[in-house]
Amino acid sequence: MKLQNRSVLITGGNSGIGLGIATRLRDEGARGVIVGRNADTLADASHSLGDDFVALRCDVTKLDELEGMFRRAEEAVDKLDVLVVNAGGAVGVGSIQPFTEVDERSFAAMTDLNFKSVFFTVQKALPHLNDGASIVLVASIAVHKGFPGMSVYGACKGAVRSLARTLSTELMPRAIRVNVLSPGTIDTAVFSRLGFSENEAAAMKEEFAGLIPMKRTGSPGEMGGVAAFLASSDSSFVVGEEIVADGGVVNL
Ligand SMILES: NC(=O)c1ccc[n+]([C@@H]2O[C@H](COP(=O)([O-])OP(=O)(O)OC[C@H]3O[C@@H](n4cnc5c(N)ncnc54)[C@H](OP(=O)(O)O)[C@@H]3O)[C@@H](O)[C@H]2O)c1
Repeated sequence: MKLQNRSVLITGGNSGIGLGIATRLRDEGARGVIVGRNADTLADASHSLGDDFVALRCDVTKLDELEGMFRRAEEAVDKLDVLVVNAGGAVGVGSIQPFTEVDERSFAAMTDLNFKSVFFTVQKALPHLNDGASIVLVASIAVHKGFPGMSVYGACKGAVRSLARTLSTELMPRAIRVNVLSPGTIDTAVFSRLGFSENEAAAMKEEFAGLIPMKRTGSPGEMGGVAAFLASSDSSFVVGEEIVADGGVVNL
């Protein structure tokens, strides 16, 4: 129980990696808040997490919604000890697009979700965080690899990795640690959201798994384990750091 009675907030905690993280933090004794937009998955996820978790609806790309959401979160669970900034993804407008085809609209959609929202989620959270809190930013191995069609997404995740260093320095007087979790290919609904059939998505997953030295994709629960380490005092001397959890893609 690394996080007994700690209050935590996970953006995108209603699905995929975020739900895996919320579940693990709950299992470590935390209570808290999950944040997302989809009312159905928010209800399902908060039901599965149990009474110590509340679900709040918020579009994290909208600054006024972020402010209201953090006010409601503090009312529900007091000031936060852990903030996991996980909402994001490469799916949607601007998803997998050659560099020459990126237009202003798709660029804005990708950067709004994968960089602007991360930046302002942390900024708007600060008045609602306890001193000594831990912030975990979810990036990607796209920080380290040149995946074709992911120029904007990869650059956003690189910016998130950089932000962790600057914020770690600026937040040192409050003893708030900022670290990054960079997942490799994790088995989430993201594959089905790319618009492929079930068979095509399964084939794609298998192809991706073949490219991973460990020959399998990762699970949201495994990302939860890394996040629990970064969120807890087990990582008390780790700051401005990145943990790549990818089955060996980047380093082997
Ligand atoms: N899966 C992978 O292989 C992988 C690899 C590397 C990095 N990542 C990163 O891991 C994170 C989670 O990805 P995932 O695979 O778990 O994807 P996912 O299952 O699609 O989950 C994305 C989550 O983000 C939330 N979200 C998206 N846009 C939002 C918005 N504007 N406002 C509020 N919430 C929003 C979604 O909630 P709603 O559905 O309610 O909008 C959902 O809970 C992302 O940052 C992604 O870039 C994933």
